[in-house]
Amino acid sequence: MELETQRLILRPMQQTDLEDFYEIFSSDEVGRFVHKMTHESVEKYFEKKKHSVQNPFSFVAVEKESGKMIGTIGVKRDSQTNVGSLSYVFNAKYWNKGFCTEACKAVMNFCFESGQIDKIEADCFEDNLASVKILQDKLHMTENFQKTKAVFNEVTGKMTKFRFFEITKRQFLK
Ligand SMILES: CC(C)(COP(=O)(O)OP(=O)(O)OC[C@H]1O[C@@H](n2cnc3c(N)ncnc32)[C@H](O)[C@@H]1OP(=O)(O)O)[C@@H](O)C(=O)NCCC(=O)NCCS
Repeated sequence: MELETQRLILRPMQQTDLEDFYEIFSSDEVGRFVHKMTHESVEKYFEKKKHSVQNPFSFVAVEKESGKMIGTIGVKRDSQTNVGSLSYVFNAKYWNKGFCTEACKAVMNFCFESGQIDKIEADCFEDNLASVKILQDKLHMTENFQKTKAVFNEVTGKMTKFRFFEITKRQFLK
């Protein structure tokens, strides 16, 4: 399945995405918020992720203008509960241009319209201010204060708390 937004094509990942995938995941900027990867670990992750093409809610974002793959975005569905878990990573060279927000809106709309997902959840490090802004201000997700989790961030060398957000189909489509 392919989705189209104003500036992006959202399509399943393919083998030819490896180089762009590596560029995204090996950068220090991305490494600060998701696990920092070496050349080898990116390749392993790519191989693993290739299986997610079976997931109809997993996409890469291709900038229409350049044809470059600039991000990954996906919703992992729990088939028992119909709850989806949203995650995304974009190439640091393309940050703060609204690409992630644009992709999230299209993918979330697709998930809810599919009838297979009733609620979407997402979490991020509390110091990931761009992600908090997207989830809270741009996607209007509600913060769930009941959930708590903290992990050691190897890059910053600090324990970092997570923040949890969620939105139901009804809230999203309103
Ligand atoms: C999170 C991420 C995907 C955002 O992608 P993006 O395309 O830059 O997102 P958008 O441009 O749609 O929105 C980002 C917003 O955060 C804002 N922002 C960025 N850094 C910020 C900061 N330090 N403090 C406050 N706001 C910030 C941007 O200005 C923008 O808001 P605006 O449009 O009102 O100006 C990208 O930063 C990324 O890949 N980060 C690393 C991976 C990651 O953190 N993934 C999520 C794990 S939960």
